Amino acid sequence: MPRVFREEFIEKIKDEIDIVDVIGDCLELKRAGVNYKGVCPFHNEKTPSFVVSPAKQIYHCFGCGAGGDVIKFVEEYKNISFSEAVEFLAERAGLELEVQEIARDPREDAKNRLYELNKSAAIFYRENLRKTEKALRYLQRREIDHKSIQIYGLGYAQDSWTALLDYLKSQGFTIAEMLSVGLIIHSEKRDSYYDRFRNRLMFPILDTRQRVIGFGGRAIDDSQKPKYLNSTDSEVFNKGWNLFSLNLLRKKSRERKLILAEGYMDVIALFQSGIYYAVASLGTALTKEQVQLIKKNAEDVYICYDTDQAGRKATKRAIERLAEREIRPKIIVLDGAKDPDEYIKKFGKESFLARLEKAFSPIEYYDYDLRQEYDISDSNDQIKYLENLFEVLSRQDNKTEVELYLRKIADELKINADVIRNDFYERYKNRAKNVVAKSRNSEKRDFTSNEREQLFQKPMERNTKVLIKKKTNQLPYELLYTVTISKKYYEQLQNEQDVLECFDDELKIIYETIGQAYEQSNPHESLEVIKEQLEFLAQSKKISLNQLKDIDSLHQIIIKLKKYRLNEKKNKLKQLISETSDEKQREKYMIELNDTLEVAREIDQYMKTK
Ligand code: UTP
Ligand code: MN
Repeated sequence: MPRVFREEFIEKIKDEIDIVDVIGDCLELKRAGVNYKGVCPFHNEKTPSFVVSPAKQIYHCFGCGAGGDVIKFVEEYKNISFSEAVEFLAERAGLELEVQEIARDPREDAKNRLYELNKSAAIFYRENLRKTEKALRYLQRREIDHKSIQIYGLGYAQDSWTALLDYLKSQGFTIAEMLSVGLIIHSEKRDSYYDRFRNRLMFPILDTRQRVIGFGGRAIDDSQKPKYLNSTDSEVFNKGWNLFSLNLLRKKSRERKLILAEGYMDVIALFQSGIYYAVASLGTALTKEQVQLIKKNAEDVYICYDTDQAGRKATKRAIERLAEREIRPKIIVLDGAKDPDEYIKKFGKESFLARLEKAFSPIEYYDYDLRQEYDISDSNDQIKYLENLFEVLSRQDNKTEVELYLRKIADELKINADVIRNDFYERYKNRAKNVVAKSRNSEKRDFTSNEREQLFQKPMERNTKVLIKKKTNQLPYELLYTVTISKKYYEQLQNEQDVLECFDDELKIIYETIGQAYEQSNPHESLEVIKEQLEFLAQSKKISLNQLKDIDSLHQIIIKLKKYRLNEKKNKLKQLISETSDEKQREKYMIELNDTLEVAREIDQYMKTK
């Protein structure tokens, strides 16, 4: 039964204990003004954004939003309950526990008995597994090792009608209790009871408080149907509200990563290879409540479902479900195996992690998925492919990404980018009308008309010739590439009108999208896409791209480009001077040329001091 502490006692603990001491024992804190700073233990970061305030006795992480008082910290850091955290701190402060007397809630008692019952069943199944050759052989065949068996508490339900029933009865549990968690079934015909799980490998399902709430059972003989059987929903179990292995994720992984897989076996195979952050959604389509759990427990979410058509369909649904709660997952795409379990056994952990590193963005995944269906080298397929891709793109919020993707596809299909953009716009307009008509009360956000205009505005008139010759033509690319590192760099560039004029149309658009990216609260994703696009463009023009190391080299480039512009201006003025017969006009040009030369000299001077 959970303890209930007196209010005053909780306050007393907080008075006695200094949050800085407690947190200081767990991580390194450095003084920063009136506060302390450290590297956040709740998410993966390199620069400290975790702040502890001695005055307010609270902590807060500006990176992941974790925060609270000292009790909350202990709860989260040690992954224990509120009362356990209070006990821990009381002991530390040398205080005697002050517990409030409360009446026992009979409903809680009844529920606790169901957890106990499930636990007894899990123990019984586990013991059976040890004694059953056939089941052990099956596990061996599936390459599940002893450690995984232990950690997951795997078991075996005997090939018997009442083995579990008899055992639980001997432990003092009633038929009604067994029925209510779905471990036994009532036969109307014979008016008798029998075990639900027979001749199955048993996976206990635990909640984050490590209580056994239900089971999944896999058939051991292929003739047995269905392949997997789950406990029925009960007072202590709701399939749609839990994720298999979430309890281990909380316990084992300090990372804020999570891989969402389809099956028990996938999760266990990943765990066995040392990837501790996989969970599975218990044979249901991902539910809202599961999304909520994911949001609470992870920052970087990866989907890695089966590679068959059903898996691809489920992936798209999961992307949408996650998007409803502003989670933007990445999708791990595997080939050469039907699911993560098979993949990791065939190709190993490193290969899987390489796939994880290269995981797709949602747009990339939709694109990949369409290409499984359409052969884009076939012109009929290409049209259908584009129609579908437009549909996907029209549903995306991030217009930078949409814009860049359209250009990427245009390049790949060797279609004029403007044609593709216009085509997309036309279709989108039609669709937008329907959406507006339908979605008065839909939560889904569409582009505002303003944004839509921006997104589809005509590319700049192509009146600027290619301004920059060989060698120099590399500079704008490097410059923009560098500007994706930091907003500061972007702002430096913003004031350099001369330099901006050196950009051709493609680069101008990229420059604008960088600006748009920096307006987002988390520009990182968009910037990654932009960088890719730059790399792609540079490559197609045989330009080598280097990211500049520091602000100084950024200035160097800006200056070089300025000089380039000045040179151009100088030549043009000289030409005009020689051509004009109007004295007054000539004088004006001379003055301008003088100014230009002056600026050029200044720049030369500056460069010498560098
Ligand atoms: P899979 O059929 O892909 O299972 O179903 P798997 O994990 O690859 O299993 P093995 O490798 O054949 O043993 C994925 C998940 O869907 C649920 C289970 O949760 C399973 O892990 N499922 C599947 C069911 O609930 N019932 C079924 O009959 C089949
Ligand atoms: Mn599978």
